[in-house]
Amino acid sequence: MTNHGNNLDQWYDHYADRTAGLAASEVRALFAVASRPEVVSLAGGMPFVSALPRELVIDAMERVMRDSGPVALQYGSGQGMPALREHILEVMALEGIRGSVDDIVVTTGSQHALELVTKLFVNPGDSIIAEAPSYVTALTVFKSYQAQVTHVAMDEFGLIPQALRDAIARLRAEGKSIKFLYTVPTFSNPAGVTLPWERRLEILEIARSNGILVLEDNPYGLLYFEGQPPHAMRSVEEDGVIYLGTFSKTLAPGFRLGWAIAPHAIREKLILANEAAVLSPSSFTQHIVSEYLTTADWKGQIDIFRGVYRERRDAMLTALDDYLPDLSWTHPTGGFYVWVTLPENIDSKSMLPRAVKELVAYTPGTAFYADGGGRNKMRLAFCYPTPDFIREGIRRLSTVINGELELLTTFAQTAPLKTVKPSDSINSPPANLG
Ligand SMILES: Cc1ncc(COP(=O)(O)O)c(C=O)c1O
Repeated sequence: MTNHGNNLDQWYDHYADRTAGLAASEVRALFAVASRPEVVSLAGGMPFVSALPRELVIDAMERVMRDSGPVALQYGSGQGMPALREHILEVMALEGIRGSVDDIVVTTGSQHALELVTKLFVNPGDSIIAEAPSYVTALTVFKSYQAQVTHVAMDEFGLIPQALRDAIARLRAEGKSIKFLYTVPTFSNPAGVTLPWERRLEILEIARSNGILVLEDNPYGLLYFEGQPPHAMRSVEEDGVIYLGTFSKTLAPGFRLGWAIAPHAIREKLILANEAAVLSPSSFTQHIVSEYLTTADWKGQIDIFRGVYRERRDAMLTALDDYLPDLSWTHPTGGFYVWVTLPENIDSKSMLPRAVKELVAYTPGTAFYADGGGRNKMRLAFCYPTPDFIREGIRRLSTVINGELELLTTFAQTAPLKTVKPSDSINSPPANLG
């Protein structure tokens, strides 16, 4: 029995082994600090819900309570409300996905769908292949089910197909059981990059020929700034892809409504797992969102969100050009995030306290790797602060980064301390001892 607590907790030797993976994420720890008003937070990916007119929600709530209050306040089905699932089909059709309402399972945010899928497929020690960098809280779920995460590199066009082939071959040679490939192919979190159509097809073909299920997580696909991105991977492959969607970014995360569309047999198990976890997703918010989608101009509202985020993306890219021209970063055409590469010798995690002292916060790159990678990377979110605050945040960040570089240069110029090579001392015995 392993201990996973500490001895201030009288139950510390009672916890299950899987809780060892439940360390507070870097993002979570940051929220506390970064929520102080004087800090410009480029850390969390909070949607700018103030761009959603409150009357639209109030009206929908009023109508729901007036017309179907007792049903909305009751338990619902483990699969989710049929009327909402019809709307979800309409939403997914915008990204080329066809399907039947029967194949959709409504979940408590797509986060919960991630948890349910992992619960269904992963035994301790099983392998999951995940793009690198990967969404931090997906990694937390995978760890909590004691999965072994193997990362596959991305470039500015997302997952690299050859790197995927190599990873599969390596894992197979080690006799590992690969349960699925996790990817956010459109406006990824955290890298902000998008997989082109040809690569989508290539990756699907690699998955198909190796019998690997694809878990396509797509919260940002409708938030495009420069024309529609390629259709979802699920639009071409129905039997081998579980697709996750959410209303968190195109409406509001407070409703906690997401969904999975899955091959038929998997859908059955997802419903059972959903029931075991929550009985039914919230009837109340399903009714409100369904009413909103029936009566409001939801596509027009997504357009408004696109405009807000496009302006903020522009503000961030311009400020990076102006204040940090020597660094490199991704150029997202949608979504919430820019992924910045710092000079090799900067460790973004250890720099963070200095940044917070300068009243700016970001998410260190290491949060998005299961294997300690990403030391000189950082994720900057442009979704929440106004363009002026974004610019000021990047200005502050440049002060921090330049200060850090100065420090490193100063130390590099100092004569290095004399070091004792292990081979000269402790590792090899003195010659006279043979
Ligand atoms: C890639 C990705 N997947 C899933 C989620 C979870 O979203 P929700 O549970 O709000 O639907 C997020 C939230 O930021 C995300 O970025």
